[in-house]
Amino acid sequence: MKTTTLSLTEVRLSEEEQAAAIEVLKSGQLREGKRVRAFEEAFRSFVGVGDAVAVSSGTAALHLAYLALINPGDEVLVPAFTFIATASMVAIAGGVPVFCDIDPETWEIDPADIERKITSKTKAIAGVHLFGNSCDIDTIQKIASKRGLKIIWDAAQSMGTFYRGKDVAQYPDTVCFSFYPSKNMTTGEGGMVATDDLKAAAKVRLLKSHGQAEKYCHQILGFNYRMTEVEAAIGMIQLQKLNGFIQQRKKIGARFAKGFAGAGDIAIQKTTPGCDPSFNYFSIALKKNAVKISRDELVQELRKEGIPCAVHYPIPLHEQPCFAHYRRGAVPVSEALARNILSLPMHPYLTEPDVDFVVEKVLQLVGKYATK
Ligand SMILES: Cc1ncc(COP(=O)(O)O)c(C=O)c1O
Repeated sequence: MKTTTLSLTEVRLSEEEQAAAIEVLKSGQLREGKRVRAFEEAFRSFVGVGDAVAVSSGTAALHLAYLALINPGDEVLVPAFTFIATASMVAIAGGVPVFCDIDPETWEIDPADIERKITSKTKAIAGVHLFGNSCDIDTIQKIASKRGLKIIWDAAQSMGTFYRGKDVAQYPDTVCFSFYPSKNMTTGEGGMVATDDLKAAAKVRLLKSHGQAEKYCHQILGFNYRMTEVEAAIGMIQLQKLNGFIQQRKKIGARFAKGFAGAGDIAIQKTTPGCDPSFNYFSIALKKNAVKISRDELVQELRKEGIPCAVHYPIPLHEQPCFAHYRRGAVPVSEALARNILSLPMHPYLTEPDVDFVVEKVLQLVGKYATK
């Protein structure tokens, strides 16, 4: 196993984040208060929406958005290829996740499969903006408005992604973000629900703190999904740095794409037309029968060369044991991608030589095991 300084994702908190966190610790005001409110307002105005509600994670954001927008028994169309929370929170909110396939090139939920899987019980679409790319927002919105469906966008991986000149946060009905450390900006754990639907935002705000409008008066049943003041203080600084992070990610993404251009055995994610992606992850997929080794063996070989890799995601959601009773209809593109995809190092601190090294090693190994 060779040693390199490469990491798959990387967070560097500078003296600014450290000072902001220490100021909160010194104040003793740890629970949600004025810093969370200031972070919500800064986030709201940064992405350009009517309201933004800070919560304890991206998972909590999805849970509350579904609770605000769907009713028990409603079917929600979700991609089979995404992180578990997009679909698990539908089920936990009382809905029924119905798995749709993804587009073979953009790897985003396939609008044609959305149309095929709509039934009389379908009430919403969960569009995931995967890896920093966006869904085909225009087409999904047209389907939703024709069929009277709500849309909950999962933008956990796409803070800083734009579509047709607008931040993805600006597309109705609600947009959920995560600030987990691998995301484009972090608060440690944390999330945000962004929306122009002020009624939905008010419901999310109630739900996130025990349905409490005034102290100890609980209008509805709720949770403790509040963000802490330390997280909000870190988030404020990260938000100021976000554009810089995204510029770096774009440069690195473009360099990877150039490096793999023309490599016939490897596919990379095609940017959705109209999208300006933020490159949260950079994944490659081995084309069918192109190499004599499996994806898992390639991951091991790359790790031996000192290149950390991961698989986002090895099991499509309809094959997850927890969703055994929700299986319905075919999702062949998701199944094939889950077998062949792997993520390479991607974070703002990668250098050009780092990227070139990773590209060179991937191409060498794929060339070594090529079937032709
Ligand atoms: C697409 C997607 N949705 C939801 C989440 C959940 O976010 P969190 O980890 O903050 O709960 C994640 C985070 O990994 C994600 O990648």
